[in-house]
Amino acid sequence: MSTVFLNGAFIPKAEATISVDDRGFLLGDGLYEVTPFYEGVPFGVDRHLARLERGLSWIRISYDVSSLEEMHRALIAKNGLEGAERSLVYVQITRGVAPRTHYFPEVDVTPTIYAYAKEWSRPPDDVWNRGFRAVTVPDRRWSRVDVKTICLLANVMAFQAARDVGVDDAILVRDGVAIEGAHQNFWGVFGGTAVTHPATSHILEGITRGVVLEEARIAGIPVEERPIQVEELATADELFFTGTTGEVRPVVEVDGRPVGDGHVGPVTRRLSHAFLARIEATKEAAKAGVT
Ligand code: PDD
Repeated sequence: MSTVFLNGAFIPKAEATISVDDRGFLLGDGLYEVTPFYEGVPFGVDRHLARLERGLSWIRISYDVSSLEEMHRALIAKNGLEGAERSLVYVQITRGVAPRTHYFPEVDVTPTIYAYAKEWSRPPDDVWNRGFRAVTVPDRRWSRVDVKTICLLANVMAFQAARDVGVDDAILVRDGVAIEGAHQNFWGVFGGTAVTHPATSHILEGITRGVVLEEARIAGIPVEERPIQVEELATADELFFTGTTGEVRPVVEVDGRPVGDGHVGPVTRRLSHAFLARIEATKEAAKAGVT
């Protein structure tokens, strides 16, 4: 039985209940965040919580996030995940419980906070080395997807459209631009330059994306933050996604056509290695007591 965190208490999941008047349930009025842990060591937790804090401030939920890192660590420990190669904490904060109105409640309400921890795994090497297949799908999301809202209906519909045709991932297209995946950022490699959409309100500025940008610069791989036109997908040497649970994820086929030579490319491999090395370094530093 897993232990979850609900409104200040660690309790068995079976005992966790939320009011039907919760504005997260009724209106999707809330945000979430997903932070990875590697052998119990959080990766980028400060960046994840800073993004959550920025989002909360924009949707005007007052919640002090300063205790959340400790809560995350405790949740990993209480679920026996300190030794797990990969685990994560999902946290969701909604505006709270109040009679349904399209505006904010007129009386003070306490935000609802819920979090759980779980193990996850990277695809086996042979699967990763074969690469993944994607289809393009219209991006039907709202215009502030930089805010990590729990309203994921358009993401769910897009990902399901990919699954319906038997492929692994969706690439969301808006105004002729290949924006990002349903739950990952999107990259192309053109003549050795790694390209990804700029951090505007049309993408969720991924923490993984930020780390991969840093690693590319350290490795001397040229990077460009600019929109990738959907027609450019046919001329890309390589395509890949980045995200918390996908890490660096190669795309070898889009809409039934091979990407480049149809194999996982060298830039994707270098960036994946650099990303995994960064995780190893983070684990070692944590174990050596360096913060
Ligand atoms: N998804 N773009 C979208 C639309 C996302 O939902 C996510 C994260 C990302 C990558 O962000 P990061 O590198 O910080 O994980 C990009 C999370 C993991 C999810 O929905 O489960």
